[in-house]
Amino acid sequence: MKSEFIFVACKSEANDFVKSEVSKLAAEWKPSFSRPGFLTFKVDGGNPDLARLNHSRFIRTLGVNIGKFAKFDSLAFDLKAAVDSFANEAGDGFFQHLHFWPRNIGKNDQSIFAFFQWLHSEMDDPIRLQLKAFSEAHQLPLNRTASSDEKVLNVIQIDEDQFAIGWHEVKLRQQKWPGGVPRFPIPDSVVSRAFFKTKEAMMWSRFPFQEGDVCVELGSAPGGSVQALLDAKLEVIGIDPAVMDESIMANPSFTHMKKRNAYINKKDIADAKWLFADSNVAPQHTLDSVAEIVNNQHTSVHGLVLTLKLLQDKLTHEINQYAATVKSWGFNFVRVRQLAFNRNEVCLIALKRKSLLRFGKVKSKSSKPNPVASTPKENQSKTPKPNKPSENSPKANESSTNESGISESKSAESKSAE
Ligand SMILES: C[S@@+](CC[C@H](N)C(=O)[O-])C[C@H]1O[C@@H](n2cnc3c(N)ncnc32)[C@H](O)[C@@H]1O
Repeated sequence: MKSEFIFVACKSEANDFVKSEVSKLAAEWKPSFSRPGFLTFKVDGGNPDLARLNHSRFIRTLGVNIGKFAKFDSLAFDLKAAVDSFANEAGDGFFQHLHFWPRNIGKNDQSIFAFFQWLHSEMDDPIRLQLKAFSEAHQLPLNRTASSDEKVLNVIQIDEDQFAIGWHEVKLRQQKWPGGVPRFPIPDSVVSRAFFKTKEAMMWSRFPFQEGDVCVELGSAPGGSVQALLDAKLEVIGIDPAVMDESIMANPSFTHMKKRNAYINKKDIADAKWLFADSNVAPQHTLDSVAEIVNNQHTSVHGLVLTLKLLQDKLTHEINQYAATVKSWGFNFVRVRQLAFNRNEVCLIALKRKSLLRFGKVKSKSSKPNPVASTPKENQSKTPKPNKPSENSPKANESSTNESGISESKSAESKSAE
């Protein structure tokens, strides 16, 4: 009987969570070779149905292995053999993209930034030069964003001289990106890691953020996340007793309510369409704060993007409960996933109406007071405009992408992922 091997990428510390998910969602898949951040599963009978893992919380991306692991010296030969074998079966042009990525994108902020820069950097090391030559010879763009239903040939660097070759068809949004990690332009100065995770959350969610929409963030200091929201031309209210970065405070589209979540007057955030939360508190605490806002008579929040800390491993078992709680507030579309730029946390996104994903437009329901105008002065604080960029900010400006956090039409991954 023919067997296939599935490859799965995740955060390096999430291997056990993935194994546990696979044992529930595809029980007959047998765990095989694995390294931190990269697992394979043996599937007997061929034609494995990868869609069974669509709702995994910890899988960043996945596909089907082709052949044995390759070494650097044999990589071009093995890739050619892979392309030829599919050409024999399905005609020329089976693949449309070549993605190359390392299995371990790192745990701490530095290594995640380093990975991101690596993804954006010029192809000048011997491996990438070899892959670049291959990509040109076979007209397969290297590490570009793929489109829905396109087929991607993957080269995954497992160890210094060990490479897996695999492929996948793009059915989920994250499968468009090399290794499931989105590419986006980043500013010269990034306020905090939250900039990356919020960018990623916006791109993954496909929520129809519109210029000028009012957005509230609970736990906004120092402001990386707000930076990403301001980048998308949203009007942002940040709630946090801690100090915001000067560059954020200087932006006229930002208002700081320097207090704890519990002390905000809901009328002051009545115009908010989007609610983000990133407080360093237990998930239940975050959910309690969000519940108070979305269930309040003065507010009409359309969508949520919540960072939920996984303070202990056992909390991963409670993710279903968190999702159910959010649904019970009337959000009929809820998804939870660990993002590439999450650390020990997951991202929960929710929409009041799933149809918003299709139509890409959120109409304001009320003519509620402008939050800034109605906010008591003592709640707001502003500082003069700074000129000094912050230190330790990663720079990788040269990249561009055809995607943004702004609305997009419905595509295949939403159909298959729902
Ligand atoms: C991980 S940091 C947030 C990072 C931030 N989102 C960014 O983009 O830079 C967590 C923040 O939650 C804030 N926080 C903790 N408890 C809070 C509460 N009850 N209300 C508001 N903010 C709170 C902390 O002051 C801290 O600034």
